[in-house]
Amino acid sequence: MIDRSDGQDEVAGIAVRIIKEGDRIADIVKNLLAFARDWKEEQGPALIQDILADSLGLVEKQILKDGIRFKTYISPDLPEIKARSQHIQQVFLNILSNARHALNQRFPGFHENKVLEIRSEVVEIEGRRYIRTTFYDRGVGIPGNIRDRICDPFFSSKPRGEGTGLGLSISHGITKDHSGRLWFDSVEGEYTKVMVDLPTVE
Ligand SMILES: Nc1ncnc2c1ncn2[C@@H]1O[C@H](COP(=O)(O)OP(=O)(O)OP(=O)(O)O)[C@@H](O)[C@H]1O
Ligand SMILES: [Mg+2]
Repeated sequence: MIDRSDGQDEVAGIAVRIIKEGDRIADIVKNLLAFARDWKEEQGPALIQDILADSLGLVEKQILKDGIRFKTYISPDLPEIKARSQHIQQVFLNILSNARHALNQRFPGFHENKVLEIRSEVVEIEGRRYIRTTFYDRGVGIPGNIRDRICDPFFSSKPRGEGTGLGLSISHGITKDHSGRLWFDSVEGEYTKVMVDLPTVE
């Protein structure tokens, strides 16, 4: 279509967009396939505090640069979990990125409430022990009308090009694969808490 047009008309504009969006879809599919391949990595004993430290190490600089402060509370002597560490790290990275985005949206500059609180502790659910990691941001919160959809593949409220909407859907799959649970507590305009519950090694 581009070759047949003079490069200026509306058709050429549409053709350029088709190519660009095609490339974008190809990138997404490539990422999904790469992700599916290392799915076979065995689950092994892991410490949540190590995975958390690795995840924070990757994004800390960026988050601090935005004027966001961290508060972390890790219970001492947390037991081990059985996990594919890389996958759990991916879950944490997406939650951190979402929290950063929500805080920056609510507080574009510096603000005393621009805080991201992370807590890891043991909880007992129906006689089984889990490590619950809670990410608490006082950002824009999740509006009630989209709450049921945020884990859907390709659901994103971010501007085009900024979010693919795959973060939570993949994270949801990973926690389920670890016999865990990913859930939310949020009040629009006030806060979001994201909880990741992962069973401990008994
Ligand atoms: N901490 C949060 N505060 C407010 N809204 C959130 C938060 N976390 C997730 N959301 C909402 O859930 C949507 C889906 O999140 P998800 O991580 O799946 O996709 P994304 O961040 O938009 O894109 P991607 O993660 O693929 O880059 C977000 O677009 C946002 O509307
Ligand atoms: Mg995300």
